[in-house]
Amino acid sequence: MKILVTGAAGQLGRELLLMLQAAGEEAVGIDRAELDLSRPERVAEGIAAQGADWVIHCAAYTQVDKAEEERELAFRINRDAARAVAQGVRASGGRLLHVSTDFIFDGAQSRPYREDDAANPLGVYGQSKWEGEQAVREVLPEAVILRTAWVYGAHGHNFVKTMLRLAAEREELRVVDDQVGTPAWTADIATAIRALIGAGASGTWHFTNEGVASWYDFAESILGLGRELGFPVKARGVRPIPTSDFPTPAKRPPWSVLSKRKIRGLLDHDIPHWRQSLERMLKEIL
Ligand SMILES: NC(=O)c1ccc[n+]([C@@H]2O[C@H](COP(=O)([O-])OP(=O)(O)OC[C@H]3O[C@@H](n4cnc5c(N)ncnc54)[C@H](OP(=O)(O)O)[C@@H]3O)[C@@H](O)[C@H]2O)c1
Repeated sequence: MKILVTGAAGQLGRELLLMLQAAGEEAVGIDRAELDLSRPERVAEGIAAQGADWVIHCAAYTQVDKAEEERELAFRINRDAARAVAQGVRASGGRLLHVSTDFIFDGAQSRPYREDDAANPLGVYGQSKWEGEQAVREVLPEAVILRTAWVYGAHGHNFVKTMLRLAAEREELRVVDDQVGTPAWTADIATAIRALIGAGASGTWHFTNEGVASWYDFAESILGLGRELGFPVKARGVRPIPTSDFPTPAKRPPWSVLSKRKIRGLLDHDIPHWRQSLERMLKEIL
């Protein structure tokens, strides 16, 4: 079975590709140099030519704040190219797993978001990803849409690495405590993706690690565990601040915990708590 991973240089794509290859799967990665998603008119053909049994579409325009000024580019990559990827998969007769985000929700709820809860994105990135989901479903109703959140891992840029860098430089970190969600380690997402493929799943699924955290909680754990494990930590602590003290161009959902009820029924193991996976990731990059 041939598996094609887009965004193979990104956080999730890289992790997934390496995991699949280590497991002996016939997995190939594709990156921007081979297939530029900002030119969607070429994408369907490029995907179809690969003749993959499964395409895991991890590539996306992921710069949440910059998307507010690069609206057209974000939609081209996250909606139009996602549609073209689905068209390419349909043409070659394969299956598609498309990765999406908790940012399609507005965060006004106070119970975990289920797969069929109403979308109401607050910013351009979330809207472009939501329209991308819909475009994929239109072309390939049996596609898997996997929504995740707060992604971090050994490859690429993320919050964990930023906190470790700042903790080595500064006396104190200030991090928002009124945005709540759940971190997701790329290795755990990749494991969930393998399970979805293996089960021949279709439809919409949510996956993050277990537990709930604010960005402040997450930062505190990064510093605490980082210190224990021997990372250079100069910062004495993390100070919780409200989002209003850290304004960003894009509005973010204040509460975006995703329900894992559906995917728990598919996995043959418990989903690790986010603190447990954070520790494993820190040990990996140490
Ligand atoms: N990061 C998060 O917190 C988060 C949260 C929820 C959902 N997600 C979703 O999870 C998926 C994976 O995210 P990630 O964190 O792994 O993202 P990432 O590290 O930013 O990687 C995104 C990948 O997309 C590629 N890409 C961007 N523009 C492209 C273009 N024009 N043509 C071809 N490739 C292009 C990037 O290539 P370059 O390396 O060349 O730039 C990169 O390899 C995405 O669908 C994202 O929306 C992410």
